[in-house]
Amino acid sequence: MAFTFFFRDEQILALGVEHLVPFTIGRSNIRILNAGCAMGMETYTFAILLAEKIGKFSLRNVKIHAIDIDNENVDFGKTVREGIYHKDHLQRIPADLFKKYFSPAEKPNHFIISQDLRNLVDFEKYDLLTLKPLRNDYSLVICKNVLLHFNYQQRIDVISMYHDMLLNEGLLVMENTQNMPGELNNKFRRIVNYGQLYEKIG
Ligand SMILES: C[S@@+](CC[C@H](N)C(=O)[O-])C[C@H]1O[C@@H](n2cnc3c(N)ncnc32)[C@H](O)[C@@H]1O
Repeated sequence: MAFTFFFRDEQILALGVEHLVPFTIGRSNIRILNAGCAMGMETYTFAILLAEKIGKFSLRNVKIHAIDIDNENVDFGKTVREGIYHKDHLQRIPADLFKKYFSPAEKPNHFIISQDLRNLVDFEKYDLLTLKPLRNDYSLVICKNVLLHFNYQQRIDVISMYHDMLLNEGLLVMENTQNMPGELNNKFRRIVNYGQLYEKIG
């Protein structure tokens, strides 16, 4: 259930970064929700893409709230907070970005992501199906390969909750195979021709 890897769905994450840039101009508090972050590979992929786009200086205004439900086998919170990964998990990262953002960790064959990017990320254990909005000031919600575990009504309920959690015109990124349920056409509008990138209506 927690299958994931660095640079998975890179194209839609990069589009999310592009469309997030206007939110970063003149704002000192940009909040991003990464729902179903698993071990943080998605979280740090997004952080790397964002850092490349807006630069270190603007990053100080950004917080990424990474959330996931409990997992019996891996302590997601510990992994996300430490930002340490085995070299086998890092092969898909472009060489220049790997060199720039990772350094050897104390544990053999493990690498740690840069402190700048770790500082961006807060992990919280959270079950989306409780449907309790965590905040209402996110500029972007990333929720990929999570909703497929839910039934149709649960998807509607969770996406409606994202609507409540986003600022006006806030963004929602989902994986390519996750279409917006028709019931929510008055809440989100798709803003790209290819990919599941939506903007909050209202
Ligand atoms: C297949 S992984 C996807 C990881 C990452 N988003 C990606 O696209 O690579 C699905 C994640 O959703 C999480 N998940 C499933 N049900 C959840 C729930 N009710 N609340 C929060 N997270 C949940 C799982 O624990 C798992 O980490």
